[in-house]
Amino acid sequence: MKTYLEIAIDVAQEAGKVLREELDRPPTIAYKGDYDLVTQADRRSEALIVSRLQKYFPEHAVAAEEGTGKDTDSEYRWHVDPLDGTTNFAHGYPCFCVSMALARKKELLLGVIYNPVYNELFAAARGEGATFNSKKIHCSKIDALKNSLLCTGFPNHNREFHPNIRFYWDFTLRSHGVRRDGSAALDLAYVAMGRFESFWEFGLNPWDTAAGVVLVEEAGGKITDLQGQPYVLGGPSILASNGLIHAEMVKVAAEVTGTLTRK
Ligand code: IPD
Ligand code: CA
Ligand code: CA
Repeated sequence: MKTYLEIAIDVAQEAGKVLREELDRPPTIAYKGDYDLVTQADRRSEALIVSRLQKYFPEHAVAAEEGTGKDTDSEYRWHVDPLDGTTNFAHGYPCFCVSMALARKKELLLGVIYNPVYNELFAAARGEGATFNSKKIHCSKIDALKNSLLCTGFPNHNREFHPNIRFYWDFTLRSHGVRRDGSAALDLAYVAMGRFESFWEFGLNPWDTAAGVVLVEEAGGKITDLQGQPYVLGGPSILASNGLIHAEMVKVAAEVTGTLTRK
């Protein structure tokens, strides 16, 4: 019998094939808001994932971004982003993935993140560690913000009123730099495998972060909100790090917040 994790990996890789196929076609872009894109690839990938999960686990709830999952009151819930990084995908920028996580009640049990262009598979199960293409991974050992490479993201809605650019500016001056790669799930996976020391963002949804949270925690990293308080799925902010620079990240974030609220 396959484990939940093995099934999640199979399904994510199958959905990744759909994204690869769609990448070779002219993009079919529609808008969910002024800048929030959705493509045929998001829809096809979600249809595949939802149908597979319903076949394997008919009693499980499925919370999928495009809304086609069956969100029942089962104690098991899949958080599914069928294509994280849609804007990148629509421009042919190869930084996007499938992201899937399974929770039992409030506990996240596993996470799988798959980039089908580079064939990079990140997987983690609670208590069993995290892997990258089947090899064990750990967060980086860099212990100072000034030696760190960071990552963040910006929301697709209410962009002109969002203060994250101030955090971006400050963290840029205090680190090796801040990337803005456009896929929150991959950003978290990269913290888990040590490409980034830390990632933060405001306003993400459960399907953006659930798998990445398991990966970072199982790779020895830390997840809180930007104030250093426990992170709640779908909460106002997330801060992921290798653990070693976490306190520094929280301190700088508090300073930036202070300058914003004094104005
Ligand atoms: C988006 C990406 C992006 C983040 C946005 C998300 P989507 O997800 O994760 O990196 O900055 O806030 O909405 O729409 O491509 O699935
Ligand atoms: Ca997403
Ligand atoms: Ca998405």
